[in-house]
Amino acid sequence: MARRAFITGSCGLIGSEVAVYFSKNGFKIYGVDNNQRAVFFGPEGDTSWTLRRLRAEIPDYQHFNLDIRDRAGILALVAEVKPDVIIHTAAQPSHDRAAAIPFDDFDTNAVGTLNLLEAARRACPEAPFVHMSTNKVYGDLPNTIPLRELETRWDYADPQYEHGIPETFSIDQSKHSIFGASKVASDVMVQEYGRYFGMPTCCLRGGCLTGPNHSGVELHGFLSYLVRCNIEGREYKIYGYKGKQVRDNIHSEDVARFMHAFYESPRCGEVYNIGGGKENSCSILEAFQIVQEFTGKPQKYTYLEQNRIGDHICYYSDLRKMKSHYPKWSITRTLRDTIREIVESWEERLGKQAAKAGIEG
Ligand SMILES: NC(=O)c1ccc[n+]([C@@H]2O[C@H](COP(=O)([O-])OP(=O)(O)OC[C@H]3O[C@@H](n4cnc5c(N)ncnc54)[C@H](O)[C@@H]3O)[C@@H](O)[C@H]2O)c1
Repeated sequence: MARRAFITGSCGLIGSEVAVYFSKNGFKIYGVDNNQRAVFFGPEGDTSWTLRRLRAEIPDYQHFNLDIRDRAGILALVAEVKPDVIIHTAAQPSHDRAAAIPFDDFDTNAVGTLNLLEAARRACPEAPFVHMSTNKVYGDLPNTIPLRELETRWDYADPQYEHGIPETFSIDQSKHSIFGASKVASDVMVQEYGRYFGMPTCCLRGGCLTGPNHSGVELHGFLSYLVRCNIEGREYKIYGYKGKQVRDNIHSEDVARFMHAFYESPRCGEVYNIGGGKENSCSILEAFQIVQEFTGKPQKYTYLEQNRIGDHICYYSDLRKMKSHYPKWSITRTLRDTIREIVESWEERLGKQAAKAGIEG
């Protein structure tokens, strides 16, 4: 019998990539997603195109239009499926959006995660449980590291952080945003189910996770949204820091590959920072440059002096712990490869939309 992968947020960027990847590796996929992204972000966040893609690409894909806040529903479904691995990627993922919807944010990110952990403990405590956490658990503390200003980006001036932010960095006593705080709650709970109950859990504290399958919107999915703006000739808004704020970007398939490595060799209550690392980091100004090279179109933008609350000025992940625990894992897509794929995907999706509008109009 095929091994069973239970994936929440299966129509999102990471969930869909993980579903395809685990399916190719012999798993039967049970996906949970109620298209809440369209509720959080409106029609542009709609992920129903991804559900159609999953059904086409994964022949025996089984979908559950279930809300992870539905405790009874989640307990019953996990007990019925008895998964061999749980990958939890469903979330309210935007720190700006969270302030307007704190109950929805906390109920989804913190309580929804607890529902899944407890469901796993009751039905399949030996199944590896991988939780997508975020670098926002560090709050704005990374902004206290001394920086140096380069021509197109900020960088750490303290040699202690030459490889990036390690997992030992404090998550305490800083401003996280409402989203960051709800993710701290889930991150700590996932660790606790590992440490207290001995379950094979891990938190992956993501930098910028990206790829061609993102439904990027202004409030979430920086590179995907930036590329879309470029192709459509829309204005991209830069919020503060001179546009030199640095993000490390990792292709969603490299995230899926790490999750699979963890499944094969799980540990209890672990925490990893996962991102593109220094090599795949870029500032917004540098991202404009690369995207323009691929599309040949100038990037329109406006600059607003006020930065986003709690936004990191410079953040890239120290990947050394991941690499030491899982030496066979490495990044396979460079930043340029990833941006090229995003450009191609948006050109295709927007081309199809335009063609459809042409036929209908
Ligand atoms: N994309 C990034 O740059 C990034 C960075 C750091 C951390 N993360 C984390 O990774 C995870 C996945 O992010 P993503 O970029 O794939 O987000 P996404 O929004 O593309 O995917 C999340 C999916 O979860 C679904 N969902 C939301 N609430 C739900 C609910 N209550 N019940 C069922 N389904 C629900 C949404 O419909 C969506 O399809 C999140 O936990 C996010 O916080 C993402």
